[in-house]
Amino acid sequence: MSTISDDELLARAWRAREGALCDYSGFAVGAAFEDQEGRIWTGANVENASYNLGLCAERVALYHALTSGARGFRRVAVVTDAPAPTPPCGACRQALFEFAVDAVVLMENRAGERERRDVRDLLPLAFEASYLQKKRR
Ligand code: THU
Repeated sequence: MSTISDDELLARAWRAREGALCDYSGFAVGAAFEDQEGRIWTGANVENASYNLGLCAERVALYHALTSGARGFRRVAVVTDAPAPTPPCGACRQALFEFAVDAVVLMENRAGERERRDVRDLLPLAFEASYLQKKRR
């Protein structure tokens, strides 16, 4: 179970960001997930002329990782060229809560400013699977 440094995980996210397909917004995002085995899974945002079909970098990376069998994510790096480190959007927070609840999110911008937050802290009072077990109607 090897592990890389935060700097290296962020570097993987920066490299992934180069693959962003973001002609509509011009806002490129890179993401890198570290799973429980120390494997790294990366992605970048993909946009579409039908704007609402776009997918965030975090979910591109996460869904590829999950469907490749990765589990137990420990860290997630998210990088942008924004005035401040960019946190995952609300939809990505929900996806992270479902599949990477014990992970920590490292955010970095081009200026090298960083933020670090637990996934649990990014989505208080989360809706999750246990609510579905309750009696319905
Ligand atoms: N975006 C991400 O990839 N991740 C986020 O957490 C925030 C937003 C993308 C979606 C869209 O392609 C572009 O950034 C502008 O919102």
